[in-house]
Amino acid sequence: MSAPHASPVIIGAGAAGLMAALCLAPRPVVLLCGGALGVETASGWAQGGIAAAVGPDDDFALHTQDTLSAGAGLCDAAVARRIIEAGPWVIEFLTRHGADFGRNADGTLALGLEAAHARRRIVHAKDATGAEVMRVLINAARAAKNITISEHTQAAGLAVHDNRLCAVNAATPAGPLTIPTDCAVIATGGVGGLFAHTTNPLHATGAGLALAARAGANLRDMEFVQFHPTALACGLDPMPLVSEAVRGEGAVFIDNAGARFMQGGDLAARDIVARAVAAKYAEDDSVFLDARTVSPEKFPGIFSTCRAQGIDPATQPIPVRPAAHYHMGGIAVNADCESSVAGLFACGEAAATGLHGANRLASNSLLEAMVTGRIAAQAISGRTIHTSKATPALLQIPEASPLVREICSQYLGIYRNARGLQSAIAQLRPLAAHSGPALVALLMALSALRRRESRGAHTRTDFPGTDAAQAISSTINLSDLTAT
Ligand code: SIN
Repeated sequence: MSAPHASPVIIGAGAAGLMAALCLAPRPVVLLCGGALGVETASGWAQGGIAAAVGPDDDFALHTQDTLSAGAGLCDAAVARRIIEAGPWVIEFLTRHGADFGRNADGTLALGLEAAHARRRIVHAKDATGAEVMRVLINAARAAKNITISEHTQAAGLAVHDNRLCAVNAATPAGPLTIPTDCAVIATGGVGGLFAHTTNPLHATGAGLALAARAGANLRDMEFVQFHPTALACGLDPMPLVSEAVRGEGAVFIDNAGARFMQGGDLAARDIVARAVAAKYAEDDSVFLDARTVSPEKFPGIFSTCRAQGIDPATQPIPVRPAAHYHMGGIAVNADCESSVAGLFACGEAAATGLHGANRLASNSLLEAMVTGRIAAQAISGRTIHTSKATPALLQIPEASPLVREICSQYLGIYRNARGLQSAIAQLRPLAAHSGPALVALLMALSALRRRESRGAHTRTDFPGTDAAQAISSTINLSDLTAT
């Protein structure tokens, strides 16, 4: 028997999940947060800012064009345009809720420049934009009467009947909990924690992707992982980011001898720069970012993190190396952000909406997180949510073991080839039945093996060229594991 009026459940409390919860008001909603609210979220760690075509010399067409160029033929142009057109709304929403973005003397927004943007369009709060966004969204969520926030609660399984969601199972400090509902939104972020070198929180291991895959959902573009070229190489795990915006203000790459080596410019698209830095790193075992001409006042957080590690960017080059930073792939969703399982939605980095294609344009991620949170909420708003008799699903293990991190770094890094990917698949397959991170890594490796070309962030040393016949997004699901 089913009864109406259950609540939607939002899994994940970064910018995407919080925005979905806020936009569902006044409908009651349960927000599951794996840890303490606001602690260790990739959204909160974002430095650069929010890309939005709000400058006098900018427009939606230009921003869309830059996004499509970076995406190397795999973006969905209509999705990109829709998300980009919502940029001014995001900035207005956050400002109305108290966000303190940098401004010029005349009160207009100060806009930063990042790689592959044809215009200055990065709305920012110094170098801690994500922290400011999270401060505002968390304050609003705590004040909202419709949101029940459940901290330290880890979604651990989805019950599905006839390809329709019927319950969310969660692990809470008090024990397992089953929430009967036929509507949930996955907003669990990315997969950087699967790699030995990452700028993401270590719990970012694709937990929501594993939940969705086990529930039978399709995943899309899983092979595309973006590596950021300038993670601070100082032995910390995860690695602090040195924002691309520092290069936007004049910093350049140099080698051991102090010589510049970046052909094509220090602000070329992120995949191009990451490959060049990785190649130089492999040769010399060190690469530096020279930020000595950059004003420390513009990047107080980054300069202070460097100084805490004994490096003064005002007088010394900053040691950097590439690190896993963002996953373009994720849960395949339609224009309403609904997955192939009815009632199961996804937004933010956990979703593959079609905005990023094979390579994300810098600072499009906070934008996408908040816009897709709102899109999911709007789609859910018109629905009646039911409770149902839930079939409990298996609890899964969320952490990525050192073995999985080692496998991903060795075989699924910036450079890949068939032999390495086959080795990864052979090692991950026996682990995937019991480990969510291993399952996600396995689906990534299979997708990477199938894409027999180089495109965007996916570089195959055995297929170095881009093949026009493969300019199509990949889809994979659990049945592919038995088929291969
Ligand atoms: C950065 O600040 O360099 C990162 C921005 C982004 O990943 O979008």
